Amino acid sequence: MLTLETVDWTFPVPIKYGPGRFAELAATCRAAGSERPLVITDRGSRDLDFVERALAVLSEAGLSPGLFAEVSPNPTDAEAERGKAVFEDGQHDLVVGLGGGSGLDAAKAVSLIARRDTPLWAFDFDEPAPDVADFVPLICVPTTAGTGAETESSAMITDTRRGIKGCVWHPRHKPAAAILDPELTTGLPPGLTAWTGCDALVHAIEAYCVPMFHPMCDGAALEALRLIGPALPRVVNHPGELEIRGAMLAGSCLAGVSFLKGLGLVHAISHMIGAEYDTHHGLTNAVLLPAVLRFNAPAIQRHCRPMAQALGLKRCDFDGVYRYVCDLLDALAIPASLSDIGVAPTDPTGLAQKASRDPAALTNPRRASVEEIAEIIRDARDTGR
Ligand SMILES: [Fe+2]
Repeated sequence: MLTLETVDWTFPVPIKYGPGRFAELAATCRAAGSERPLVITDRGSRDLDFVERALAVLSEAGLSPGLFAEVSPNPTDAEAERGKAVFEDGQHDLVVGLGGGSGLDAAKAVSLIARRDTPLWAFDFDEPAPDVADFVPLICVPTTAGTGAETESSAMITDTRRGIKGCVWHPRHKPAAAILDPELTTGLPPGLTAWTGCDALVHAIEAYCVPMFHPMCDGAALEALRLIGPALPRVVNHPGELEIRGAMLAGSCLAGVSFLKGLGLVHAISHMIGAEYDTHHGLTNAVLLPAVLRFNAPAIQRHCRPMAQALGLKRCDFDGVYRYVCDLLDALAIPASLSDIGVAPTDPTGLAQKASRDPAALTNPRRASVEEIAEIIRDARDTGR
């Protein structure tokens, strides 16, 4: 199986792919000039085996690692500030982001602000990038196949003052390396495997439907769908099969590359729901996807044939793609509506106003007014799929 190969990629950043590559963490840190790496992960992962292994691998190689695990499912700016303090107090020299999207996003935020006075929100995606360089080196090690966040410095962080999620990044800051080891994902429980896998699927679909000529990202999106399509329904029931885990991990990475082009209303709305209700990002996306697809239908007809072909579907129009998505969500036991996951906003218009200002809303294939976004939220809350 191709997905069991060990291979080094140089696109879009150096990537060490293959089962067992996690053992190269210490050498990767050292190659980036580190003696005192700080491992950052989320609270839910703190006691998992891979954190202990990371610290052991680093210590056994003669490095002096530290751990910062005070990160919630939707990381906040306050947590990033605490991580920066831990980094500086411990005289660390590199950040290892280890975990799912939360751990990686927190690690990226810390690496943006560590050893400088520039505040986190100066790196807001919507603002001109500050004229800074010499970022603390960053190594990303995903343990879920979903976020695809391992090749970029952009991070979704909750702004605790404004009560919204914002994107922080800097164009000169990229991970020094990423390690994609499918073995790290085999311990993920079935529910989280499904939810994170849905996030990757949504990345590929939303990115491909962004109305922009971008053949590199479109190619990445379609190949992501080709890998994820057959793997996602199987991975939940065959959690230990490395070739399926490898397909999901590579597909998730490609889907992450594809959304350099942008995302859409699933993410714009999901970001705001995550900030307000602290829901799981992938699960929220999965629940929102059918309602957003129905809204976008008039604008994505031409995108459906390539997506359907990549997914191996018989019916290659919108209805074929839509039916595939709904059947897959059923098979993965994804709840049908927002209400079913405890999200019943009483002020959809307020939520829609926030979502309309999210960068992902600007690249949605069909322009949506605040009232139209509110209607999608009501639709996803009450009907779903
Ligand atoms: Fe996402």
